[in-house]
Amino acid sequence: MLLFFLFAFSNAALVDRQCGSNLQNLWLDVVAVIDNSDAMTQSSMQSVIATVATVFEYGTVIGTDPNNPKTTRVGIVTYNSQATVKADLDKYRSIDDFADNVANDIGIVSSSGESYLATGLEAAEELLFSNEEDPRGHYRKVIIVFAADFGGTGQLNPVPIAERIQTSGVTIITVSYTQDPYVLEGLQKVASPHNNFTSGGQDLISNIQNSLLQSNCFCRSYWRQYRLSYPDYWTPKFGVCLQPFSQPATWKTAQLFCRNQTKNGYLANEYTQNKHDFIFNMTQNAGFPQPFNYHIGLFFNANKWVWDQPEGWTQPNVSDFMYWSPGYPTSSGSNSGGVNYQMGGGVAWRNIPLYTYPAYFVCEVASCDTDNYCEITDFF
Ligand SMILES: *[C@@H]1O[C@H](CO)[C@@H](O)[C@H](O)[C@H]1NC(C)=O
Ligand SMILES: *[C@@H]1O[C@H](CO)[C@@H](O)[C@H](O)[C@H]1NC(C)=O
Ligand SMILES: *[C@@H]1O[C@H](CO)[C@@H](O)[C@H](O)[C@H]1NC(C)=O
Ligand SMILES: *[C@@H]1O[C@H](CO)[C@@H](O)[C@H](O)[C@H]1NC(C)=O
Repeated sequence: MLLFFLFAFSNAALVDRQCGSNLQNLWLDVVAVIDNSDAMTQSSMQSVIATVATVFEYGTVIGTDPNNPKTTRVGIVTYNSQATVKADLDKYRSIDDFADNVANDIGIVSSSGESYLATGLEAAEELLFSNEEDPRGHYRKVIIVFAADFGGTGQLNPVPIAERIQTSGVTIITVSYTQDPYVLEGLQKVASPHNNFTSGGQDLISNIQNSLLQSNCFCRSYWRQYRLSYPDYWTPKFGVCLQPFSQPATWKTAQLFCRNQTKNGYLANEYTQNKHDFIFNMTQNAGFPQPFNYHIGLFFNANKWVWDQPEGWTQPNVSDFMYWSPGYPTSSGSNSGGVNYQMGGGVAWRNIPLYTYPAYFVCEVASCDTDNYCEITDFF
């Protein structure tokens, strides 16, 4: 009875949108880069084949489909002293085609004692970026390295090549087939942060799948993804993108601007202290001047404070988290919006009139992810 009472009358905490997590809707371009030098044993090779096949077995649509943009292309590169493209991104036309042929394409261990990951990475880069008019240019790209050795210096040093590839927005995942500390350390330098794994870990498949889902969760050009920490780019992401605008507008004009800026845009919502702090960090980084003063999606509607949403969507009530400046909200008429206004070294909420108070502002929109396909035209 008491439980029911609490449940019925407490305001549920609002949570920010999560990244899509549906592997059946994965839309990526992925290249597996596989060491087949003699450092790999035949059983390691079997394990690579099983891993590559299993990662996509949860219903990912392999290939392309004119009626469904949520598809994933997979390429296969092996390397020892040099790289061999075993499957380009257009080879596999379906999950069955992929399942039937991937083992044969990956093949067996070679007799080469050399293992130059640099050559494999460059071959993968070539597959991913060769088509300048690529209709899938806005798809996220991922390289998964499977290796048991780490060779190459000078031109053949894989680390600067990996850095260059990551700078083009590619996530690099590594899976080590040895516990040799030298190899582990080398692969960790090649991998995107938190994306270095080892074989034998029982969570390997789900770790790779989570990396793919996180890679598939991203923002359109000029938007910045909300994540746990603003300074640390590689903390877990939310399925929400933000953009600060350094141009004064009234609350109402800013709301319309956000709605027009991108499909289903709205003024930023602050459901938690972390989101509030993240947005503040972002606006400082964007050079908002002091005293800090910017519109967020807070407004007074039908006798309660609510959060802005895309046109026609339900506006959640401000509940759980509130961050009013002392003395606010002042007795508000129906025409109040909300700003973050400087208070000490931070900012806190104040209510302001909707139509006469210009300030900078922050827009928000859902990320592109497995639940939300973004058209290539969304990127301009
Ligand atoms: C990945 O690299 C980090 C940093 O060196 C290390 O602490 C971690 O153990 C590595 N993870 C795996 C699975 O090897
Ligand atoms: C905001 O920036 C400060 C200083 O860099 C940092 O300590 C804090 O963790 C950041 N908060 C968020 C949510 O990004
Ligand atoms: C923004 O407004 C312009 C001009 O009215 C219109 O052409 C465009 O489609 C709008 N964009 C969005 C995302 O609503
Ligand atoms: C907001 O709160 C009001 C009562 O103040 C309630 O009637 C309404 O259902 C709530 N709306 C949402 C979206 O929770």
